[in-house]
Amino acid sequence: MMKVKIERIVDEALDIRSFRLVRSDGQPLDTYEPGAHVDLTGPTGVTRQYSLCSPPQDRRAYLVAVKKEAQSRGGSAALHEVEEGMELEMGAPRNLFRLDPAASEHVLCAAGIGVTPLLSMAYRLTETGQPWRLHYFARSPQYAAFAELLASTFAGHVQFHYGVEPGDMDAALSDCLGQASSAAHVYTCGPAPFMNKVVEVAARSRSDEAIHLEHFQADPAANAGPSGSFEVELASSGVVLQVPADTRLVDVLQAHGCDIDTECREGICGTCIVDVLDGVPEHRDNCLSNKEKASNKQICACVSRAVSARLVLDI
Ligand code: FES
Repeated sequence: MMKVKIERIVDEALDIRSFRLVRSDGQPLDTYEPGAHVDLTGPTGVTRQYSLCSPPQDRRAYLVAVKKEAQSRGGSAALHEVEEGMELEMGAPRNLFRLDPAASEHVLCAAGIGVTPLLSMAYRLTETGQPWRLHYFARSPQYAAFAELLASTFAGHVQFHYGVEPGDMDAALSDCLGQASSAAHVYTCGPAPFMNKVVEVAARSRSDEAIHLEHFQADPAANAGPSGSFEVELASSGVVLQVPADTRLVDVLQAHGCDIDTECREGICGTCIVDVLDGVPEHRDNCLSNKEKASNKQICACVSRAVSARLVLDI
């Protein structure tokens, strides 16, 4: 984690504020890949993940946007109280939501605060010149963050959809995706029901590999409770550890002295991902893609467990 200073705060929409962050030591930040997020620790000590939405090549500052959640447990509400000049702790950018290099055309579907990772993608796609379009769904213009920027900097690429009722969403999304070629990859971020609908509509014309999504909420399976005990073998030493039914895999590994970091402990941030050399994980996270889950080559150790009696981990 490094210290960053809040250089500027802007109200971007109702209950959505952006924070321009610079390094406290004045050094340049690293460039990042579009779709990346950072861990930010606010004044109450709560750490949350926020997508970066500044131009990815801009090393002077990062921009994040925070929606004040009604159910905030100290993360988003506390960040809405901070002032310019204050310092926060920030982790290095991590990316679980990349633009697919195999794609030649891209359709970005955002709802509400979910526009943030897609904004960084918009900067990159403008640079590369590949065909792309952003469809931004919001209750009304008041709720649409970065609307002015999107309409000016990315004019011709952005279509706003205001006040679409849930019952009309299928038709609206079908229309959006129908404007692109069937080879276009689809990226979505927003509330879970919206993303589920995007995935459902996109899956009618595209394979799983062409549909990408970013979650900011835990999979309900993450809190599904115990599912039996299993063993883990640490490949480097051959040590075998027992993971009891009521204990997380990551806790067993850390208790043994394995060097694994955690942040969210909800299967969202990807900090605790470990390579699996043998065995079948029971995936309960919301950060590995369906393809990654199906390959069984990685496991999110904070929430996921095992289907097989033993997992062999690359530790
Ligand atoms: S600690 Fe965040 S995914 Fe495991």
